[in-house]
Amino acid sequence: MFEYHPLVEETSELRQLAKDHLGEEDFLEITPGYSFYVTLKGDVRPLGFATSCISFIWDATPKIQRLVNPHLEGCSKKIGWLCNSVVHPAWQRRGIGRKFYELRLAELDKEVGYVLISAWVPPGTERANVAGLAERFGFKLLGVVPEFWAGCGCPSCGDACTCGAAVYLRRKPRR
Ligand SMILES: CC(C)(COP(=O)(O)OP(=O)(O)OC[C@H]1O[C@@H](n2cnc3c(N)ncnc32)[C@H](O)[C@@H]1OP(=O)(O)O)[C@@H](O)C(=O)NCCC(=O)NCCS
Ligand SMILES: [Zn+2]
Repeated sequence: MFEYHPLVEETSELRQLAKDHLGEEDFLEITPGYSFYVTLKGDVRPLGFATSCISFIWDATPKIQRLVNPHLEGCSKKIGWLCNSVVHPAWQRRGIGRKFYELRLAELDKEVGYVLISAWVPPGTERANVAGLAERFGFKLLGVVPEFWAGCGCPSCGDACTCGAAVYLRRKPRR
């Protein structure tokens, strides 16, 4: 029913899909090879997309580094990040989010030993929207960084944002 494609660049359709979940100042972290979008088979319209990248832990904000550093073993501090996961509301709960996790983790696992998520915890909720998916794929919640997105133009609360970031880490499963 669905077809998954490599995602290489930002388009206005993807921006439209993401508008309720990203601040105006945020950009889509599209790294070709680690990012995908989905359509109906034979169609061209994106129903959702997911991005990820590889970065150094010292490029993360100090609050994230403090949570993550004690868990990283070995000297390579290069880690994978799952960035945006967005599925159009009409197409949620059909396994697209799960497939996006599988596709990205399969690529990231070839390159790095750890993958990180810093997920938006929307106002009035306790958990990130991806909490269930993250846990199913073996991510452990390290903590929630309060007021993480202040000043980013949060889609729910604007510049007065107090939303937190749930920080999840997953170690590559040993084979
Ligand atoms: C989070 C998100 C990407 C998940 O995408 P999705 O395609 O709905 O994900 P899936 O269908 O693979 O699974 C989602 C949940 O639905 C459940 N589900 C899947 N198919 C189902 C079905 N047929 N019937 C009932 N439940 C089902 C899964 O078990 C899963 O539950 P869990 O989260 O408790 O583990 C999507 O909800 C979304 O875009 N949300 C808004 C954007 C957002 O908040 N993104 C995350 C921050 S960047
Ligand atoms: Zn907010």
